Amino acid sequence: MKIEIDSDITKAKTIPSKFYHSPKIYRKLKKLFDRSWQFIGDTNLLKKNNTHPGILLEGMVDEPYILTKDKDNIRCLSNVCTHRGNIVCNDSCNTKTLVCGYHGRQFEINGKMKFMPEFDNVTNFPNKNDDLPQIEMEFWENLIFVTNEKKCDLSELIRPMTERLDWLPVGEFKYKPELFRTYKVSANWALYCDNYLEGFHIPFVHKDLNKELEYENYFTQGIENTILQIGIGKDGENTFDLPENHQDYGKNVAAYYFFLFPNMMFNFYPWGLSINIVKPKSPEYTEIEYFTYVWKEELIGKGAGGDLDKVELEDGEIVESVQKGVKSNSYDRGRYSPKREIGVHHFHSLLQKYYK
Ligand code: FES
Ligand SMILES: [Fe+2]
Repeated sequence: MKIEIDSDITKAKTIPSKFYHSPKIYRKLKKLFDRSWQFIGDTNLLKKNNTHPGILLEGMVDEPYILTKDKDNIRCLSNVCTHRGNIVCNDSCNTKTLVCGYHGRQFEINGKMKFMPEFDNVTNFPNKNDDLPQIEMEFWENLIFVTNEKKCDLSELIRPMTERLDWLPVGEFKYKPELFRTYKVSANWALYCDNYLEGFHIPFVHKDLNKELEYENYFTQGIENTILQIGIGKDGENTFDLPENHQDYGKNVAAYYFFLFPNMMFNFYPWGLSINIVKPKSPEYTEIEYFTYVWKEELIGKGAGGDLDKVELEDGEIVESVQKGVKSNSYDRGRYSPKREIGVHHFHSLLQKYYK
């Protein structure tokens, strides 16, 4: 299937509905996700232990990785044994040596193979192909991002966000593990993103949130691989104290919502940051992980970022309802509101650009 989205939103039609349920299209998306940057946590993952295994976007990218720390050096390595492909490390632990549980191959914490039983007389062994390969990793403050196939620097992807927020002390925000959540939605990952990318549904779906926001002034802009939405608070609501020279100074900014293509959401509220990672698990099932970083504890629970659980459940319900609709034989493509669906149109245009 070819995605064709007219760059003129007044003429454009939305993505063919097949995109939201076809297993064949879902499988082809692996390449797009392989090339994306993915947030996997922060440097605190290596505070107690010096190893932390994981699987990059399980259900889509499926790349086993392991974060390791030796002295102050953090690396992301492949967690696949270079002998016969077993997963080397299953749990976070503190160790000097990674030992594969299948036939006992040992690796240094930097990935170098250091010992293998019963391998006398093997020619040209060990060589660098026997070491655990590195996986590309970059940081924003203490937040860790990795990619399976690096196509651009992380800084390039996040620039629209970091420039706009250069006055926020993101490095000082505190991660709250007790506020970590996984939401499960029986719908395609891109439907979930579509829904996130417009404020159009707020008055219909989020009646409480709508009381906090000034709907007429909701702002959306697509900037390269980022989509920015700004929620403007009603007078008296909780808003940011912006520096005088800031481009948004004078506006009642209640929330900055940054979408980083294809599946990361960085939501900044006066209390701090909620990172939502949309994890495609299968064509019609998605999990969304919420990571919470607190800046001003006393503001939690207030304003547009107040009751995120409620907003999330309302979104989950509507997106599941749409999933049933897009599978119908009688629906294929819709049209966009030029005023209210700029973000959705930009997202679909990026899918057209990167889905090959
Ligand atoms: S697969 Fe790891 S030692 Fe054989
Ligand atoms: Fe919503």
